[in-house]
Amino acid sequence: MELLVPSEQTPSGQPVPDSSLKELSFHHASDGKPLATPWQVAETRAQFLTEFDLPSGVVLDCACGSGIQLAAYASRLKRPAIGVELNRKRAVASCLNLNTIAHRHSSFNQGWHRRSLVVAGDGTKSDSIASAVGLEVNSVAVLVLDPARPRNSRTHGLDEMQPSLVSVFQAWKPYLSETNHGPSIVLDLSPRLTENLREDVESIVESFWPGVDKTWTWMSRGGGRVDRLELWIGGVATPNVTKRFVRLSPSFGGENTVFEQNQSFEGSRPSLQSARRNEWVTILDAALVESGLVDAWLVEQLSSAADVRWAESSPRRPRIHHNGPLKDHSHPFVVASGRVVDVLDVPLNEANMDAIVSAALSNDISAMTIRCGVDADLQPRLQGSIDRQLRNRQGRRKAFLTKHTGSNHLLLCVQYPENSNL
Ligand SMILES: C[S@@+](CC[C@H](N)C(=O)[O-])C[C@H]1O[C@@H](n2cnc3c(N)ncnc32)[C@H](O)[C@@H]1O
Repeated sequence: MELLVPSEQTPSGQPVPDSSLKELSFHHASDGKPLATPWQVAETRAQFLTEFDLPSGVVLDCACGSGIQLAAYASRLKRPAIGVELNRKRAVASCLNLNTIAHRHSSFNQGWHRRSLVVAGDGTKSDSIASAVGLEVNSVAVLVLDPARPRNSRTHGLDEMQPSLVSVFQAWKPYLSETNHGPSIVLDLSPRLTENLREDVESIVESFWPGVDKTWTWMSRGGGRVDRLELWIGGVATPNVTKRFVRLSPSFGGENTVFEQNQSFEGSRPSLQSARRNEWVTILDAALVESGLVDAWLVEQLSSAADVRWAESSPRRPRIHHNGPLKDHSHPFVVASGRVVDVLDVPLNEANMDAIVSAALSNDISAMTIRCGVDADLQPRLQGSIDRQLRNRQGRRKAFLTKHTGSNHLLLCVQYPENSNL
């Protein structure tokens, strides 16, 4: 085990621009870059953490990697960072990145930064780490953990996490400062954890702190993908909020869209039988659906008479049919929403392009996007043909084309509001 003082470390290699904010560069070592948290994600979490009333003490990250998330938390909370990292080169990179962020906050070698330390060693050896860095019992305000996982994992099993949740909780429990709501812990877990594995994580937490509050948080940077999954525990859980979905702004510093579920919600999902003219079709953010928060969100977006039917489409393009429009058709969780103006009984292929475009023209359409699964080779050819044929014609409405599941029926949907391109 080796104690590293951040301000005493000198860079050996070139830092690499962050994927979410190019003007900021970080050091990585031993192929640590893919493991590192993008700065936009790290800052969003850190900003969120400042909203809690935390006990006094340090921020401890016992598998800190390149230290990016740790630097975001410590600089926002203005608390000393204690990082532990098994790989010595990465531990040095953590020091350098803490220095970068301290400079960014004009606090290099002052306040939180002056008292921050990184240990190159095993993050589960709490007693020796505590005596090396001078930590007493109840002196950790927040424990954060982003365990290493095999990159090609199929199961995302809890036993693959390094270090394991149990070993970290066992080691650090006496050092965690407890609020009325228990200790404050943020776990950064695999975004692919199944519901069963999430329950297993909850059971482990319960075995250490029975009855403690827990808020699962899904984070998506767009494209229908869940990029991050966290469990916020105890003093940093939001009371009565079991699930939160955060759609990060497409650019750094923009506004994020957050949806929270306050109680458990069991929505039933009737499946779509047949598609009809004039009904509404909405393609939803796949990441919101994956988080399990979509049903609660739809209750806010649709009247109770909406009679939602779920098209059995690919998980990449979840689609609902409903009566009546969404309250906010341009909400960030909506990929496309519109009304069926035509149902065409033809397969989507090159031979039928003229018939499809002619239907679009007779429905006053100026632009139409294909929004259903088509072979990757074929898709640009079909879309290109639609674009060329509709260009310079007199249509005034924007539309999308989707396919009814289980039949050849193509649904031509005019986007809302109908005159959006006038
Ligand atoms: C996913 S990375 C953390 C990335 C970090 N959150 C960031 O923002 O850069 C996990 C790290 O845990 C480290 N690790 C694994 N087992 C450990 C242990 N027992 N003690 C300390 N670090 C460990 C790995 O070397 C790896 O760098």
